[in-house]
Amino acid sequence: MILIKLGGSVITDKSVPLSFSKDVVYKMGEAIYGLSESEPVILVHGGGSFGHYYSVQYDMHTKPRRYSLDGFAIVRNSMVKLNSLILDVLAQCGLRTYCCPPSVLVYSNDAPYHDGSITNKYNAIPERVQELQTIAKSGMCPVLYGDAMWHKDKMSYILSGDVIMSMLSEMLHPRLAVFTMDVDGLYTSMESKKIIPKVDAQRLAEFNITDDTQKNDVTGGMVRKVRAATEISSNGVDVFFVNGKKPDRLTNILHNKYAGTYFSSD
Ligand code: IPE
Repeated sequence: MILIKLGGSVITDKSVPLSFSKDVVYKMGEAIYGLSESEPVILVHGGGSFGHYYSVQYDMHTKPRRYSLDGFAIVRNSMVKLNSLILDVLAQCGLRTYCCPPSVLVYSNDAPYHDGSITNKYNAIPERVQELQTIAKSGMCPVLYGDAMWHKDKMSYILSGDVIMSMLSEMLHPRLAVFTMDVDGLYTSMESKKIIPKVDAQRLAEFNITDDTQKNDVTGGMVRKVRAATEISSNGVDVFFVNGKKPDRLTNILHNKYAGTYFSSD
């Protein structure tokens, strides 16, 4: 099984509110369809210029709080719209999508969120996650997404697709977890734009990873992705960061060839 995150920076144009990148999603969909005939795939997509746009406007974050209920409703609706656009395009590529809002998977009284460098214990409902696996193995392609989530006492929080990737990896142990993004992988620095081809836990400490690229991103942009990738690879799952706008590279990774940045599980 393979888990693939369709990053918000790939599926939308983050600089233009509510802009869906249909052609890019179509090309990734074709690459994924090619694979899904022989191996189960679960997809997770981000919020990009839909969910992120509104969560910034309403100052909503990953930590559960009493955010604006108007904002909560608007962010959630925007993700349903984006998800619907994505499902249509993936269906055109031949994928039998199985739409799964993340609230189906998590208990609402204990939010999974990253606080500093610590991820609190995941609270996914095990039977639901196992069911997703069964659905994927039966030839359908579950599609989840980052979302605004209900929490107890009128609180809400933003659940990032990256956290969903960590959660599913921990419970399902896929062959690969792939994060698509709008850059070629992890850079040594924003100035040099030199790609780091392979990362292991020790090596990661050598790099000074900053969040230069996505300042307005409530779920933490590249820093959070690196954190999720490190967490997933330390649980024994190989992780790749790859440019989703270059679908050949995605195809290469899905067929065991290197591209982008590889987080080794060794
Ligand atoms: C965020 O999901 C979802 C919302 C803001 C509602 P992600 O954090 O996974 O989104 P991207 O991939 O960074 O855009």
